[in-house]
Amino acid sequence: MRHFVIVALLIAVLTPLIYVGLDASHVMPIEASAQAVPVDWMWNMDMGAIAFLFALVMVPLIYALIVFRRRKGESGDAEPGTDSKTLEVTWTVIPLVLVTVFAYLGAYSLGETRLVAPNAMEIGVTAHQWDWSFTYPGGFTSNELHLPVNRQVLLKMQSLDVIHSFWVPEFRVKQDVVPGRTTDLRITPTRTGDYQVRCAELCGASHTYMIRSVIVSSEATYQAWVKDQTAAAAALLAQGGPAAGQAFVVQSGCAACHSLDGSKLTGPTWRGLFGSRVTLSDGTTVTADEAYLTESILDPNAKVVRGFQAGIMPKFALTDDQVKFVVAYLETLK
Ligand code: CUA
Repeated sequence: MRHFVIVALLIAVLTPLIYVGLDASHVMPIEASAQAVPVDWMWNMDMGAIAFLFALVMVPLIYALIVFRRRKGESGDAEPGTDSKTLEVTWTVIPLVLVTVFAYLGAYSLGETRLVAPNAMEIGVTAHQWDWSFTYPGGFTSNELHLPVNRQVLLKMQSLDVIHSFWVPEFRVKQDVVPGRTTDLRITPTRTGDYQVRCAELCGASHTYMIRSVIVSSEATYQAWVKDQTAAAAALLAQGGPAAGQAFVVQSGCAACHSLDGSKLTGPTWRGLFGSRVTLSDGTTVTADEAYLTESILDPNAKVVRGFQAGIMPKFALTDDQVKFVVAYLETLK
């Protein structure tokens, strides 16, 4: 009995010490969203449980190793223990209760991270190998994610190729971006500052570099940025020509599949494409003129180039003007 009391006391003392030690390691970055609050709360509960379980295993183990060690002159075996129903029922029921409680708390926290705010702003997220682009309510696109503080944003996310995963550690929540469907993620930033979105799903050679800036600012600063971007997008459209086309190509991430140096990637190279004779998968040939290129941008599967697969390139939602400028840009790539 004396041994049990000592072990219980040691566990009671060690548990808070381990918890404080784990907490001091600061493995979590700062908490920058409303959704991070329930996640961190849950995390702290887990750390408490882990500290207790660690003490529960290690204290009796080390205590037994020291106190019941073989002393000088001892040679016999220890007396075998006998079955204990009470012990077995105890170590079955207590973990069962704990796991059930944690399952409930986990489900509750998950619900908290998905609460819908009525004034949520919708931003489109496009992921592809290996970049992010963001489409704002005004219709313009940027490679930076700008968010006003204290307003919920609903991210509508699509992938152009493989599975990616949207993750800003400071916001805690994470969501896969899956080709062929739209996934949702709700974030309410609560701290202004500069963060980074990174891809959290191994998606190929440059997965590690699939990083873009996330800027959380005041509502006024955000609105000013939107105004600038809207004006810049309008100016680009008004300017037209190859320069505008190049800008749309960059925004759409076309370079991930189409090289400018003649090398073969997922799609045909653009170098010297305009005006060339292209052999299609059915053996016929076609001249890469304005009509062919326009059709291939709007309906990529209409004519598939020999040596390439159909169904790989998505249909890009570009306006007639934008397509015209992109074709004008392709014409410049000799
Ligand atoms: Cu995209 Cu990893």
